[in-house]
Amino acid sequence: IPVDPFDLVIFGGTGDLARRKILPALYQRFRVGQMPPDARLIGAARSSHDAADYRAFAEAAIREFSDADRGSLAAFLDTLDYVTVDASGETGWAGLAERLQPGRVRAFYFSVAPGLFGDLAERVRLHGLADADTRIVVEKPFGRDLGSARALNKALAAHFDESQIYRIDHYLGKETVQNLMAIRFGNMLFEPLWNSQYVDHIQITVAETVGVGGRGEYYDRAGAMRDMMQNHLMQLLCLIAMEPPAKFDPDAVRDEKLKVIRALDPVPPHHIVRGQYGAGDSDNQPSYREAVDDPRSTTESYIALKAHISNWRWAGTPFYLRTGKRLVARSSVINVAFKDAPHSIFGEEAGRHANLLTIRLQPNEGITLRVTIKEPGPGGMRLVDVPLDMTFAEALGPEGGDPPDAYERLIMDVIRGNQTLFMRGDEVEAAWAWTDPIIAGWEARGDVPKPYDSGSVGPAEADQLLKRDQRQWRGINP
Ligand code: BG6
Repeated sequence: IPVDPFDLVIFGGTGDLARRKILPALYQRFRVGQMPPDARLIGAARSSHDAADYRAFAEAAIREFSDADRGSLAAFLDTLDYVTVDASGETGWAGLAERLQPGRVRAFYFSVAPGLFGDLAERVRLHGLADADTRIVVEKPFGRDLGSARALNKALAAHFDESQIYRIDHYLGKETVQNLMAIRFGNMLFEPLWNSQYVDHIQITVAETVGVGGRGEYYDRAGAMRDMMQNHLMQLLCLIAMEPPAKFDPDAVRDEKLKVIRALDPVPPHHIVRGQYGAGDSDNQPSYREAVDDPRSTTESYIALKAHISNWRWAGTPFYLRTGKRLVARSSVINVAFKDAPHSIFGEEAGRHANLLTIRLQPNEGITLRVTIKEPGPGGMRLVDVPLDMTFAEALGPEGGDPPDAYERLIMDVIRGNQTLFMRGDEVEAAWAWTDPIIAGWEARGDVPKPYDSGSVGPAEADQLLKRDQRQWRGINP
């Protein structure tokens, strides 16, 4: 179904995010007929270009990052325009105003450094470019601690209502992440067991094979805690742990997520393992310190921690979270480890296997439930656990095989005016309120991350974190 005609202004329109994600995503939505041909995309940045330059830029981006289809590519490029605008000065705003059309959905995408969010919000307002229905879209990093996140929220709130602000966490746009809610709340099977009485523990892993690449300058000031844990893993934790919202609507869902974050206990130092990757073994990739060009950097490229949610449902159930770069495989998985059956009617020697539900977010999206059955053969009642396995691509056929990129869903939701998959200001602040003391703790201790080999599963100390609790990590191996 096509969305309503819209004008979307992309500040930072010639930046990396526009090139890699925003323009390719819009092109895909155009190609399938969801973005109407009379929608207008206006790139805006400080450098002086014209519409033809911007079309050439977009075409190159789409050819590099999307599967360009010539016919609709030309028509898509026709929707593009460009204005030179100074985000923190007065140049270009009148020209931008002229290009916007009345009576349409209007959105401004702030694909710029967070330091400019306030300036942009103010100018969009002061130059009369926004009405009560205008939306603004902002990207992470949304602050680097509670204080800076509050300041950003305040700067935006001075000019826009919360219902107009779309804070992107692109994990929420991933099909399989949305599927977490479908699995939990679309089935009767799981929810009655989804609590500390039946669940022994939960593991959330987001492993990447890539290193920090060309983003060393940003990353070395962030680290895995700020770059991934505070946002993406926190969102996954919320979706796995939250109470069923009464309906699938923005505030109902976000209220429940917020309650989870607010119920998180502080994390003591001995429940945290930080790591930093070394040089590549076979692929000549730089070590972390080489990549960020600081031989003494103590920023973590890996973090594992044990979290507790102090509420009625989860008291006593540990949540083990880990994420890192340059690991052995790209793999985002959630494992829900159920408790043992309370009593073995076959005797202990028959073998016991607790159920394990594995939700694969990427790649090879699907779910596996390990189920105990009888080992075949006449040798008595011996038990074995086997996988009940489903890959979404197989189960759904060709339709399910090619999930849209997260940005396709999220940008269309902005146009539709649906905030369900966007973070609310209080959610972001609560996540920083949990994160800040953890970071302050290691800064005060002068903690140095544990080295780990590129291409490994991370530092050995992270295995110890679970071994101490008689548990083990699952599911990072290729
Ligand atoms: C980004 C982080 O938000 O997410 C990157 O800044 C990380 O460091 C990326 O690589 C991972 O996203 P995805 O979609 O590749 O899992």
